[in-house]
Amino acid sequence: MTEQIVCIGAGYVGGPSMAVMADRCPGIDIKVVDIDQRRIDRWNNLDNSDLPVYEPGLEEVIKRVRGKNLTFTTDLKGCIENADMVFLSVNTPTKNYGYGAGQAADLSYIEGAARQIAEYGKGQTIVVERSTLPVRTAEALQTILKQGNGESYKILSNPEFMAEGTAIADLQKPDRVLVGGQCSESVEELASIYRNWVPNDRILRTNVWSAELSKLTANAFLAQRISSINSIAALCEKSGANIKEVKQAIGADTRIGSFFLNPGPGFGGSCFKKDILNLAYLADHFGLMEVANYWRSVLELNEWTQHRIAQIISQKFFGTLRGKKIAVLGFAFKANTNDTRESPAIELCAKLIQEGANLFIHDPKVSEDEIKRELRNNGHDRSVGSYQYERELNRAVEDAHAVVLMTDWDEYRRLDWSSLANRMKRPAWVFDTRGITNLREAAANGLETWEVGCGDHQ
Ligand code: NAD
Ligand code: UGA
Repeated sequence: MTEQIVCIGAGYVGGPSMAVMADRCPGIDIKVVDIDQRRIDRWNNLDNSDLPVYEPGLEEVIKRVRGKNLTFTTDLKGCIENADMVFLSVNTPTKNYGYGAGQAADLSYIEGAARQIAEYGKGQTIVVERSTLPVRTAEALQTILKQGNGESYKILSNPEFMAEGTAIADLQKPDRVLVGGQCSESVEELASIYRNWVPNDRILRTNVWSAELSKLTANAFLAQRISSINSIAALCEKSGANIKEVKQAIGADTRIGSFFLNPGPGFGGSCFKKDILNLAYLADHFGLMEVANYWRSVLELNEWTQHRIAQIISQKFFGTLRGKKIAVLGFAFKANTNDTRESPAIELCAKLIQEGANLFIHDPKVSEDEIKRELRNNGHDRSVGSYQYERELNRAVEDAHAVVLMTDWDEYRRLDWSSLANRMKRPAWVFDTRGITNLREAAANGLETWEVGCGDHQ
């Protein structure tokens, strides 16, 4: 019976998923380990408003379990020695060096963690892949673990399907849990933990390779839906069709379904891009060039979507944004998260700055440091325009020539245009890249409006 679980990696997946598991399994002692001391300190900070991950509902769960059966620590050795099960939730970014640079997954973090297990593991340990990994990574893990101290290891693939912003609800009530493994006893051991809160018929048992490939495939299918709807949004703007009406019409077909059909500024987040690159790289590896190109086209359409919107904004101002104040509302890649990885706002801001705009960037949860870090890391802070963070939405909008809505935060859905319009310059524009605000009201208050999938002919 499993009494001690260790999770290596205290990030967006490791932290929330272990908190929910600890909450639902009071009899299991769970340790979450990370090499990043600052991150661990923030998880342990009793001021729960400074947790490293912002997720609705996370604070409450953490308050219930931290210090009881959930511990955040950097003591890897001590934890691994006593573990019955080790979960691997480390990052797997796209490799940016050597063979496969810009395409393959960088497995050095997984390898590092496996080597630590091989060094410190004792007794029979089940090693669970939670990170998103290319097919057959379990084989590589087995090879590393075999070089270790002679202890025995069983490897399972248990990919995580939660989305940021809804992580706690997704983890508490998952559509399905996938457990892949060759050893049915180990598969049932892990399944029995999930059975504490997940109905058995939602726990799917597969072989390891199917589990690894299903995770990449699920993300690729979701991303493909967004690229598809964004391509049709562009067509709507040209043809006079309205994307909201088209979305309703196609979503009503039960074979298509109504979820994940919101047009936007392109998908962001830490996973879709890297996982599709990874899938395409795998297809190339197996000589399936057409398959690789098919999936890469989903990414190409996404990049085009991001640039398209910056271009439209520039055109509305007759091709130059020099000296224009633009309020950018939202920097996170989606609502209800403080994550900015691959956020479409990064590319959009960069383009607008290059065009000479002075940006005032507001986001309810993303910090000033994070915004500056992202723009600097992407080499976007040495151009003709400028940018600054603005904590107060009203101040961001004051004297602005345009407002660009980038993230679907609830507070942006409820913007009061009768008061905001008075603060702005005239003529002034509202660009709604998410289709979430009341543009009729903005127009009634004298603003020019543009909306994704509708254009400016509403
Ligand atoms: P993250 O970068 O937020 O967290 C990873 C953590 O692992 C970091 O804190 C890092 O310091 C730590 N780490 C790396 N090597 C380590 C080592 N040897 N020992 C201890 N700690 C180590 O990443 P994330 O967003 O949590 O994603 C983790 C994995 O889960 C990825 O493979 C990702 O594709 C997958 N995934 C992510 C999400 C999501 O919504 N973010 C959802 C499902 C799956
Ligand atoms: C995604 C998947 O939804 C999760 O199932 C998966 O576990 C996770 O990736 C992962 O592997 O990391 P996440 O990236 O957190 O989750 O967020 P999503 O809700 O999928 O949104 C991704 C991007 O697509 C966001 O930029 C979002 O704004 C955009 N999006 C989403 C749209 O533009 N339109 C939609 O209809 C839905």
